Amino acid sequence: MEVIRKIKVMQEKAEDLRRKKKKIGFVPTMGYLHEGHLKIIREAKKISDVVVVSIFVNPTQFAKGEDYESYPRDEKRDLEILRKERVNFVFMPDVREMYSEDFKTFVEVSGLQDKLCGEFRPGHFKGVATVVTKLFNIVKPHVAFFGLKDYQQYVILNKMVKDLNFDIKIKPVETVRDKDGVALSSRNSYLSEEERKIAGAIPKSLLLAKDLILQGEEDAEKIKNIAKEFLISHNINNIDYFEIADPDTLEPKRKCDSRNCLIAVAVRIGKARLIDNIVIKNGKIYNLPKIDGRAEKEKEKEKEKEKKRGVN
Ligand code: PAJ
Repeated sequence: MEVIRKIKVMQEKAEDLRRKKKKIGFVPTMGYLHEGHLKIIREAKKISDVVVVSIFVNPTQFAKGEDYESYPRDEKRDLEILRKERVNFVFMPDVREMYSEDFKTFVEVSGLQDKLCGEFRPGHFKGVATVVTKLFNIVKPHVAFFGLKDYQQYVILNKMVKDLNFDIKIKPVETVRDKDGVALSSRNSYLSEEERKIAGAIPKSLLLAKDLILQGEEDAEKIKNIAKEFLISHNINNIDYFEIADPDTLEPKRKCDSRNCLIAVAVRIGKARLIDNIVIKNGKIYNLPKIDGRAEKEKEKEKEKEKKRGVN
C-alpha cells in the first residue's frame, strides 16, 4: 500500500495506471474508519483493478461552529486498517495542499443542496461537491463509491457528475449498522454510553414510518408526527427534521408513495448530529435496519404493534 500526500504525485500515479488500462476504483472518506467505510472498500475491490482511498477532513464542508476541529482523527489506526484491507493507494493530503490561501472556485448543485440537511448545515454540500470535484481531478477514477447512509450527498454527487459530464460511474453502497440498528458513523464516537443507547430509537423511528407507508397510510404529516413523537418519547428532543420526500428531487411529500419515497431523519444527541434514512425506490427497500439480528418477519410483527399504538 502506498500513501500519497501530494496532489501532483497522485495525479501522475493515476495517469500511469490509466495508461496501463487499470480500472481505478475510488473511495473518498474523512477517515476514522469503521465497517461502513470497509464495506464500500470491499465493494470497490470487487470491480476495480486498483483501489484508491482518500482520507481528508474537508474544512469547506463544515460550517462555522460545527465540529471541524473536534472531528475524530486517527491516521495511524486508519492506515493499519487500510493495509489489512489490501488497499493499493491512500491519498492523504494536508489542508494547505488542497486549499491554497487564494482558493476561489466552488461547485454548487442548486436546489438539491438546500433541502433536508442543507437547511441546517448552510454551505455543507457546496463544500462536499467542491472537494469531491477536486478529488476526482486528482485521483482520476473510473468508478467512485458512496454510501447511501448520506443519501442526500449521494443524490447531489450523482447530479453533479451528470450535469458536469464527469466520465465517472457512481456506485451506491447500502448503510452498515450496529446490532441495535444504529447506522455506523465516525460521529458516534461523540456519544456517551447512555446517549448511544438513546440513539437506538433513530432506526426504529424510520421503521415505524416505513411500516405505516407500506400499510397504505398516505398522510405524510401524520406519519412524521408519529415518528417525531416516538423519538421524543425515547428522549430524542432535538430533531432537525423527520422528512418524507421524493427520492430523486428530495422534495418533501404531502402524500406518501409506497413505491418511491425517502424517509430521512436528522437529530442531535449530546455533541453529535446523527442522520439516517430508508429509501424505497421502485418498490425496493434500501438501508433497511435489522435490529439485534432478528429475522425481518419478527421485527415486522413488533413494528406493526408499535404502529397500531401510534396510529390509534
Ligand atoms: P465520511 O463521512 O467519512 O464517509 C465516507 C463514505 O462512507 C461516504 O460515502 C459515506 O456515505 C459512507 N458511509 C458513512 N457511514 C456509512 C455507513 N454506516 N454505511 C455505509 N456507508 C457509510 O461522506 C464523507 O466522508 C465526506 O462528505 C466525503 C464524501 C469524503 C467528502 O469530504
